[in-house]
Amino acid sequence: MQVQVVDHPLAAAALTVMRDERTARPQFRAALHDLAMMLVYEAARGLPTMPVSVTTPLTTTTGVVLAAEPVVAPVLRAGLGMLPAALTVMPDARTAFIGLARDEATFEPRVYLESVPADLAGRPVFMLDPMLATGGSALHALRLLTARGATGIVVVSAVTAPEGLTALEKSGLDVRVVTAAVDESLNDVAYIVPGLGDAGDRLYGAV
Ligand code: URA
Repeated sequence: MQVQVVDHPLAAAALTVMRDERTARPQFRAALHDLAMMLVYEAARGLPTMPVSVTTPLTTTTGVVLAAEPVVAPVLRAGLGMLPAALTVMPDARTAFIGLARDEATFEPRVYLESVPADLAGRPVFMLDPMLATGGSALHALRLLTARGATGIVVVSAVTAPEGLTALEKSGLDVRVVTAAVDESLNDVAYIVPGLGDAGDRLYGAV
């Protein structure tokens, strides 16, 4: 499994705004939007393209178009905070929605929404979740996507925990992770430390 930590001053600065407990919801949403643009841009680096002929005002030359329509799969709630950025970077992408809630007693994911194209074979898939903590939700979502034929899924997360990366690695799934940070560890209630708290609450308010 490949883990790419996007090492860029603008990404680090946006993540610092998100980590700060004093950052209010509007600024948190804006910082995640900015960071997600950079992460998705990097995640999309390997997208296959096809050559096309393009006529400029001066001559005809060769350009490219994407060879396949990408699919972006935000994991609700918090993944929605990365969706506008992903669709800005890849405007023609299709969106698959996966709703997972965390059971706060067992930390196991509970599915409440699956709105995913039936056939993902041959299509680049980007799973969006700002936090990769235990990896439980991510694995659930990844299995759901691979059951529909997705391969080489890219997991795009603002912050990851070593425990979550190990869980993905051990699963043997064909995935790549693009993130701004690999943090220290999880605490005893499965929050990432130092982390940024509950990403969904910080984006949308506590439910
Ligand atoms: N989900 C979050 O939003 N934050 C964490 O620290 C872990 C999981």
